[in-house]
Amino acid sequence: MTSLFDPLRLGELDLANRIVMAPLTRNRAVDGLAPGPLTVEYYRQRASAGLIIAEATQISPMAQGYFGTPGIHSAQQVAGWRQVTDAVHVAGGRIILQLWHVGRISHTSLLPGGASPVSSTARRPNAQCFTRDGFADVSAPRALRDDELPGLIADYRQAARNAIDAGFDGVEVHSANSYLLDQFLRDSVNDRSGPYGGPIENRARLLIEVMQAVAAEIGAARTGVRLSPATTFCDTPLDSDPQALHGHVLDRLSPLGLAFVHMIEGETGGERAPASVNPPIDYAALRRRFKGGWIVNNGYDRASAMQAVSSGAADAVAFGRPFISNPDLVRRLRENAGYNELRANLLYGGAAEGYTDYPTLDAA
Ligand code: PHB
Repeated sequence: MTSLFDPLRLGELDLANRIVMAPLTRNRAVDGLAPGPLTVEYYRQRASAGLIIAEATQISPMAQGYFGTPGIHSAQQVAGWRQVTDAVHVAGGRIILQLWHVGRISHTSLLPGGASPVSSTARRPNAQCFTRDGFADVSAPRALRDDELPGLIADYRQAARNAIDAGFDGVEVHSANSYLLDQFLRDSVNDRSGPYGGPIENRARLLIEVMQAVAAEIGAARTGVRLSPATTFCDTPLDSDPQALHGHVLDRLSPLGLAFVHMIEGETGGERAPASVNPPIDYAALRRRFKGGWIVNNGYDRASAMQAVSSGAADAVAFGRPFISNPDLVRRLRENAGYNELRANLLYGGAAEGYTDYPTLDAA
């Protein structure tokens, strides 16, 4: 029987165990939105994860939606991330980067020249984002023209190349949690006509073209994708048929030979089976549509993670908040030791406190 602590090969990624660090926004980028020395230390401390999926990172200046989140579109950012990947590799870990475009979850004060956020739609959600001056209502978006999409796809491709140049072992494309690619997927947001709007095949087109471009650039075997059929994050209603939508997406992704799908089960960071998702998503049925690796996430604990892997429901399990407060989470899970309390007030922004000062078992 396979255990959570057994090694795993995901495409070309060789993991020492099946415990994945989920991507986690911490808003601690420094000059030029590059990771600084504290971020190097933070990831180095967590290198015993089978795989680190580094935090959501902007593919371009237009992709930003929160103050202090890092990018992967400048030489300075690539150099900063190189320090991170080198430290994780020296410590024996594996690390990939999550490629992010927030779409309409943004604010003009965060965007070049005070530009409007861009999306599949011009409709503004009733959501807030985190600016230099604190939380603010997101700004009204502008709907991207179809003739702008090749440039957007090229940005994803270049970001993937930059990630490899920065020493990452691969990338995860963020198509979850109501951000740009999810804004194209869902009929609750995407009100376009033409090749990227209307039926499911059209709404999935942008994601598939992005995945093809990234895979062509760096290799499908080190490329994954994150999906969240049941989340309503940032005032984004569910698709009218999330099961059918995601079934189609997985049918189209499967032949690309990707390393993995990373599935957020339920409301991201919240309930695993929200009553509002009715009928509930059948994740096992979705998994049968995809032949690559299957990472699951959202609210797992030691027992449920061990069960997910031993039953074959998942190849690996991603943990978010437990990895923030427990740098040696793998050892703590293995030994069934205690866990540090999360200090939630220190999640976003700031410095070492609540970031690199959580003790290991040895230190405690
Ligand atoms: C956030 O910054 O709050 C955030 C980022 C990426 C996610 C979810 C939340 O997927």
